Amino acid sequence: MERLASPASGFDIGTDPLPGDELHRLHAELRARGALVPVPFYGMTALLVSRFDDVREAFRDDASLPGGPTYQQTVEKIVGRTFISMDDREHHLYRKLAMPAFQSGAIARFNEGELVALVHELLDRFAPRGTGDLVEELTGVLPYYAITRKLGIPRARDEDMRHWADQLLNPRDPEGAATAAREFTDILGPILAARRAEPREDLLSALAHAVIDGERLSDEDVLSHVRLLFAVGATTTSHAMGNLLSTLLEHPELLERARREPGLRPALVHELLRFEPPVANLPRLSSRPLRVAGEEVPPGTLLLFGLASANRDPAVFADADRYDPDRPAQDVLTFGFGVKYCPGAHLARRELLTALDAVLERLPGLRLPDAAGAAPEGGTLRHPRALHAAWDV
Ligand code: HEM
Repeated sequence: MERLASPASGFDIGTDPLPGDELHRLHAELRARGALVPVPFYGMTALLVSRFDDVREAFRDDASLPGGPTYQQTVEKIVGRTFISMDDREHHLYRKLAMPAFQSGAIARFNEGELVALVHELLDRFAPRGTGDLVEELTGVLPYYAITRKLGIPRARDEDMRHWADQLLNPRDPEGAATAAREFTDILGPILAARRAEPREDLLSALAHAVIDGERLSDEDVLSHVRLLFAVGATTTSHAMGNLLSTLLEHPELLERARREPGLRPALVHELLRFEPPVANLPRLSSRPLRVAGEEVPPGTLLLFGLASANRDPAVFADADRYDPDRPAQDVLTFGFGVKYCPGAHLARRELLTALDAVLERLPGLRLPDAAGAAPEGGTLRHPRALHAAWDV
């Protein structure tokens, strides 16, 4: 394939920071260049699917572009075998076990029963100070607390939880990943035994007592799924929450409107997920010859589903580079599409909204006197490094 021999150059989507508008300008250039563009990705060449309709079609073709083989080479090596690296019937059976915990009714009850209290507990710690790094104090903590509660496992020290989750998703440091998996699993073993004996109303208990084809899940099956849900559930939502606060702090007029108009807040969250999705580009391996955007793609090709690019495709979104909560609500590709559509989407949206409500209530006059590290960065997982904010006390 001739195009594969000449990737766009001067950047690497996997390793460059691409802060703020840099990623979006690059995506715009690549979209203009074509619907399927070879790009450098961690020193390899991947084919970027740059436009909305093509990304959605690519998700839909899960026979040619199944998620399983990609995740077998990454996530599975660290967390173990889980439904993210499975396809077809096996994927369906395992995924079905986790889904009830993440449906909208269960998430609404979780919000009222636990999440609102959790976010206020965090704000109690730092709101009286009048200044603080909102990544360190809030966005890098709340989603970790939330997912541990949902799973029914004890929370560890904030920095340990963050470290484990990051390492569990880091196939480039196999030793660090193995250590994180071991340390995290050490705290899970005794709890699993206790929940096998006496189930509670949590996901760990549900998995411990789940049956597939007449057999109970093994300890390893349960522990692998807990490792998966903890790591992906916490990091992605943490990044999205950082992107939300970063974007609002950059748009003080919208922050002010959010304060005055609670009814606008769900649209601010939805629009943020379009505008600055935390999973900006998603790798996928082709398993057989197929056509993407009208081009032939051989088996074994590494594709990148350009989620952030699709969400700003001018053919679908008018004035796409503008953060505008008043635009008509449209579907976005932030949580994927099709059989692997994110099971945590309700939980993630709820966490963002609950955090926003609490921030507006507890941090009046919120502003960003020091913007260092505040722009979302990263070409795959994307988030601010710090949000050095101040507010009135
Ligand atoms: C804003 C936050 C989140 C974003 C942007 C996000 C994004 C995504 C995307 C794009 C996919 C599709 C992956 C693919 O097709 O290869 C996905 C799948 C997945 N997400 Fe999320 N996610 C978020 C939050 C969560 C949460 C809170 C959980 C916790 C349960 C979670 C668990 C998963 C799992 C287990 C899958 C694999 C689904 C499957 O294989 O069937 N995610 N997510």
